[in-house]
This record gives sequence, structure tokens and C-alpha cells, in this order.
Amino acid sequence: MYKDQSGRKSLDIESTPAGAGMGRNHEKWKRMEEELRCLRRENLCRSTRTIESAQKSHVRYRGRDMLMLASNSYLDFCDEERIKEYASRALMEYGTGSGGSRLTTGTTALHIRLEEALARFKGREAALVFNSGFAANTGILPALCREGDVIYSDELNHASIIDGCRQSKARTVIYRHNDMEDLEKKILAHPGETGLIVSDGVFSMDGDIVDLPGLVRLADTYGLLSMIDEAHATGVIGRSGRGCEEYYHMEGRTDILMGTLSKAIGAEGGYVCGSRILVEYLKNKARSYIFSTSLSPVTMAAAIRGLELLDQEPWRVQRLSENVAWFCECLRRHGLEVSSHSAIVPIFVGDEGRAIEASERLMEQGIFIPAIRYPTVRKGGAILRAALMASHTRQELAGAARAITRAVTAPAVAVPDF
Ligand SMILES: Cc1ncc(COP(=O)(O)O)c(C=O)c1O
Repeated sequence: MYKDQSGRKSLDIESTPAGAGMGRNHEKWKRMEEELRCLRRENLCRSTRTIESAQKSHVRYRGRDMLMLASNSYLDFCDEERIKEYASRALMEYGTGSGGSRLTTGTTALHIRLEEALARFKGREAALVFNSGFAANTGILPALCREGDVIYSDELNHASIIDGCRQSKARTVIYRHNDMEDLEKKILAHPGETGLIVSDGVFSMDGDIVDLPGLVRLADTYGLLSMIDEAHATGVIGRSGRGCEEYYHMEGRTDILMGTLSKAIGAEGGYVCGSRILVEYLKNKARSYIFSTSLSPVTMAAAIRGLELLDQEPWRVQRLSENVAWFCECLRRHGLEVSSHSAIVPIFVGDEGRAIEASERLMEQGIFIPAIRYPTVRKGGAILRAALMASHTRQELAGAARAITRAVTAPAVAVPDF
């Protein structure tokens, strides 16, 4: 038996009663058990922490108030009164579930309103909502690319892009992170082949921003489609939070803009924005859209109101960006080398065990910030990933920067094996 990050005892196969349906002696179970043991030994075993309040800049965890420095709710919309009020009305009017996939009973008037709002917000002809960002990527890429095509994918792209590439059966060519020279070399090595370049807009762990001018130039030059994942860009970069195109003043230049409603917008669901033809095609070809029960109307309503607030109150985006600049400056004053132009500030630790220790120290001090380890980042490349919100105060961030510096520079403590 070992303890998870909440300090609770977690399932251990040894302690599971025989006959509990696990086929106790089966080779597969043994292999799973061994793999879990191995993950624990290498400080790579994952578990969950149970939050006992709404997701906002302060949360309750194990009965304590904690400063939340890990949430993707960048604009602090998950617990926003006007959004909750609008979603509650949708709950009373439309109920809890959609009852089917989008193509059967799962499309409500709210889905249509949301898709219209997304298309407007991103300056595109049309939009399509998926059940999550993950489902969007694993739906879009296999629908658009098949055997015989090439997908050029940044080496640090999100797992959902990686899985979408795999499912597509197209040849996937990985280029060095945000390196347009390397990308061009790789495109030239596959002359005449049709395909697509795909990249995170804001990279989910490093927080850096895609070289959109370079990527679009190559796509145009070589007749490839361009696709940007705006999961961490929407509501965060660009003067009014419209994402990468606004950030670079390149409105309308990308073929496919994909994103999620689960981060700055404070709801759930993925989306794609693009031409009418693209959306019509995906409705007919994207399997994660066709074969999955649609999101609840309540979630749609929350997303509609979240988008409206983002549109009406761009000062939130400004506040977030000021917070990031201030937090980075505080960390740098303490001697840590950091920089970010998004809401994600990675603090490099390296060793997985040390990253866990630092995270646990910070937890004890009331700062919620997780250690990110392999396979989310490379082995030996563990980080503390700070994710900032518009509602954090300068004082909170200055205090957190001090505590983080102490935690990551403290001498290592010998941690007993589980
Ligand atoms: C870059 C990127 N794309 C896609 C996703 C998936 O989005 P969702 O959480 O809505 O499934 C994430 C989520 O972590 C992400 O970081």
C-alpha cells in the first residue's frame, strides 16, 4: 500500500481481495503491478489531489486555504457569478444532459449560439464544438489527413495532437521545437506530398509562443494546411485575448484554429474555427464528433457567457499579462531564470524527486503548484509549472516567488521509498 499525493492510501494490487474480478494471477495484472512499482521507484507515479472548493485563485485542499498556482482557469471564470447564473438558467431550461451525439439529439440552440460566437470571436466563417480539446484534435487530424499525406508536428505538441497524428495514419514528421529552419528542411525532404503543419499556439508546458509568421510562410510556400492549437492562447495572448493571430497581427492567416473552452473560458469542450467547408467536412468525417454524446447544455451556456465576458472585459487579459511580467520579475530578482509571455511560467528543476519535494514543500506552505514530470516533459526535465490567473494579487505572486525560490534551491532531502 502506498500513499497518493493527498496522503490517502491508494489501491495496491497485493492488497486487493482475491476474487475481486482482477484475475489475480493473470500475467497482465502482474505486469501492471510491476510497471506501477517501477513508476513509483522513478518518482513518475501519478495520482490525483482532491480539491474541496470551486476552482479559483484560492482553493480548499485538505481543509486548508491554498493559493492556486496551477489552474488553467487563467481569467478565473470557473466560479464567476454571471457565468454561473447564466449556466443555472440553462440548467433549468434545458436540463442536465444532451441525450445523444451532435448528429442525433445532442445539438441544442445553445450549441449553435456558441458556435456562432466562437466563429465571430476568431473571425472565421464557421465553428464546430467537440466534447473536449482532446476530442477535437483526435477528431480533426484523422479527418483531414490520411495515408499518403504528411503531418509536420512540433516536437513539443500536446498529447492530443500526437494521438490525432497517430490515428490519422498519415506519415508524421516531427520538427525541432519552434524551429522553422528545421521544419523547412523536413518539408523539402518530402517534395510534392500533401499535408498539414500543426503546432500548439502556446506550448502547454514551456509557455512559449509558436512562430506563427514562420509557420504560415512555410505552409503558403509549400501548399500545406496550417493548424494551430489555441488551448492556452485563447483569452491569454493578443490584446483582447483572441490568440496567436491577434498577437502577431496576422488575422485570418491560419487555415485551422483549434482550441478548448476548458481553460481561460472556464467551461469545457473543444472547438475548431475555419471555413464553412472545413466545418461541414468535419461534421461528416470527425469520428470524435460523430460517435460521442454531446456536452451538456449547461456547459455550453457557461462557455457562451465566458466568451461574452472575455469580449466585453479585455482588461482581464491585460491584468493577466501584467501578473505574468511581475511574477517573472520577482523570480528573476531571486536569481531564477524564467521568462514567459503567456500565463504559463515553467520553473526548471530537472530531477523528478527534487521536483516532487519542492512541490510538497510549497503545498505545506499553502501554495498549490504541481511537479510536472515525464512523460509530460522529458526525463530529467521536471518542472514546477506555475499557471497564473488575472485575479492573483501582486502581493500573492511576490510571496509565491519567494517561497518557490526557496523550495527549488533548498538542499535535497533523502526521501524514503514507498
Ligand atoms: C495544447 C493543448 N491542446 C489540447 C488540450 C486538450 O484540451 P481539453 O482539456 O479540453 O481536452 C490541452 C489540455 O490540456 C492542451 O494543453
